[in-house]
Amino acid sequence: MKINPYQPDQSGMAYSVGTTLDRFIKLKQSDFPFASGELSQLLRDIALAAKIVNRETNRAGLANIGGAFGQTNIQGEEQQKLDVIANIRFIRALSKGGEVCAIVSEEEDSVIDLQNGSGKYVVAIDPLDGSSNIDVNISIGTIFSIYRRKTPVGSPIQLEDIMQPGSEQVAAGYVLYGSSTMLVYTTGFGVNGFTYEASLGEFFLSHPDIQAPKDGKIYSINEGSELEWSQEIKEYILSCKQQGYSARYIGSLVADFHRNLLKGGIYLYPATVKNPSGKLRLLYEANALALIAEQAGAQATDGNQRILDIQPESLHQRTPLIIGSSRMVQEASTKIKSSTLQKS
Ligand code: AHG
Ligand code: MN
Ligand code: MN
Repeated sequence: MKINPYQPDQSGMAYSVGTTLDRFIKLKQSDFPFASGELSQLLRDIALAAKIVNRETNRAGLANIGGAFGQTNIQGEEQQKLDVIANIRFIRALSKGGEVCAIVSEEEDSVIDLQNGSGKYVVAIDPLDGSSNIDVNISIGTIFSIYRRKTPVGSPIQLEDIMQPGSEQVAAGYVLYGSSTMLVYTTGFGVNGFTYEASLGEFFLSHPDIQAPKDGKIYSINEGSELEWSQEIKEYILSCKQQGYSARYIGSLVADFHRNLLKGGIYLYPATVKNPSGKLRLLYEANALALIAEQAGAQATDGNQRILDIQPESLHQRTPLIIGSSRMVQEASTKIKSSTLQKS
């Protein structure tokens, strides 16, 4: 018997592996009974910008777009040319679409108010994650969070529209520019992954309904910072070694997270003496991955509380991040709760 791939399968899903992202988004719109289609369009806008950034990324060695841009961002980090290019591409796509009223970007000092009378969504974005890996052909990514604004559409943007806890995200995702390019996202109804087929210019569903393994044998942390960790983190990492876990650390959060999501594992970027609040940013790095983690059955904490419960206080706020397989995150949290910082 021939199987029609677009008929609902046994679990009631009206899609299957090979479905294009566009069709999938359309089919999933029924998850939101009163949806006007704007969120769907916004996801398509992001996918289009991702394709463009993917093209730039693939040409990086050829087109003189590698290396430093010559400026630092608000966090004092040296901007790479591709950071700047990716930022421009995503902001352009989000501005043109008309669904977005404000953008928070790692590469912008303050909120971009699009002064768009009809946009009801706020997007927080790390346009290019893992910048230090651009010039050496190692996986990099894009991370995005989508919120519905709190104040009425058409009125001026307020702080409360921007400073929403991660639990308020209506969608979140990441793009991984790796051995293949993938877009992984959630709208709060599970997590789905799409692989880019460059010759067709399409993302195709390749990883439906991703479920993170409850446990794993990989730990990911920058061990070069060991002397700056709290005693509890040191002891936890020692226990990982005693349990025979493997160390894997790419240095691109998206790539490290993605591997652990599929294979099982834990990623930690703890507070250090140098970065007492950790290094990663709450609004456009931790929150999106925390929502994806939870939607896939994994967990994310700052060591004391769920990442998604943190009330942001500033745009570029940092947070310690412990994220990955639920059993591993629970074990780590128990061991490092109320950890203190001591340089040895
Ligand atoms: P970005 O390139 O957006 O600034 O992010 C870099 C982040 C993250 O991707 C990665 O996990 C982490 O920085 C690596 O930091 P260390 O080099 O301190 O390990
Ligand atoms: Mn980043
Ligand atoms: Mn970045």
